[in-house]
Amino acid sequence: MPDPLWTAITGASSGIGAELARVYAARGRSLVLTARRSDRLDALKAELERTAPGIRVETVPLDLERPDAPAELISALDERGVAIHTFVNNAGFGLRGGFGTMPYADQVGMVELNVVALTKLCRLVLPRLIEAGRGGIVNVASTAAFQAIPYMAGYAATKAYVLSLSEALHEEAKRHGVTVTALCPGPTATEFTIRADMEKSKLFSHAMSAADVARIAADGHAAGRAIVIAGAANKAGAVAVKFAPRALIRRMAGWLQG
Ligand SMILES: NC(=O)c1ccc[n+]([C@@H]2O[C@H](COP(=O)([O-])OP(=O)(O)OC[C@H]3O[C@@H](n4cnc5c(N)ncnc54)[C@H](OP(=O)(O)O)[C@@H]3O)[C@@H](O)[C@H]2O)c1
Repeated sequence: MPDPLWTAITGASSGIGAELARVYAARGRSLVLTARRSDRLDALKAELERTAPGIRVETVPLDLERPDAPAELISALDERGVAIHTFVNNAGFGLRGGFGTMPYADQVGMVELNVVALTKLCRLVLPRLIEAGRGGIVNVASTAAFQAIPYMAGYAATKAYVLSLSEALHEEAKRHGVTVTALCPGPTATEFTIRADMEKSKLFSHAMSAADVARIAADGHAAGRAIVIAGAANKAGAVAVKFAPRALIRRMAGWLQG
């Protein structure tokens, strides 16, 4: 039997991460699922083992805001004899509100998860992929990465970091046969809106489904793309942002948060 192609997904307990797990399972990948809610991970594992017989599914419940958690995840994989082929840094959340009034701990936690944990995991995983000469990393950024967003200032900045890091790593890794992809979803129907306090936001009136975003992400990464923007409207928006004056774009972005 050939070794299973292992795909690890952070933030697999809901939304885009859970749908990515379903897409990769349907493509015959064995999976490592991680997030904090172990009951959700166990339910997804049971579902995938039923719908995709033959794959293996491991769960590693972890809070990735803890500084040691990324290294603990990699140790857990080593203990289980899992050699990662594809690593998806998907766990993340957004906060909406005035920068000077939102709770300090929440803002720092967002940076710890969206930026620090993602960076640690890239640093831990990439050398192994390069040594193997195959596989890749998908980092979930956002269309929020393309412009500053008043009232989501910190979130947009974390995603600009993810996009920039991923693009640079794409160039460093590709000559070793490894693909690094930044996934940029626009508004997507998930639990993201709850923590971000955006359940009533006009931005989410035409949200894409997480299943569509996941399929587009897996296809784009398999095709070796550096950046995958999910959906035609989001692609058009990314182009418009490039050519319109920055002052106009950031004012409009702030207005859309209202
Ligand atoms: N939905 C959108 O409109 C949208 C648009 C662009 C980009 N994104 C990005 O897409 C990614 C996935 O978000 P989503 O939309 O699928 O939202 P979601 O349904 O809320 O999923 C977020 C995932 O991250 C996990 N997570 C949150 N805090 C964590 C922590 N401290 N440690 C470990 N895992 C943690 C959650 O699991 P637990 O709570 O069980 O830990 C959950 O599985 C995020 O990076 C988000 O920024 C979303």
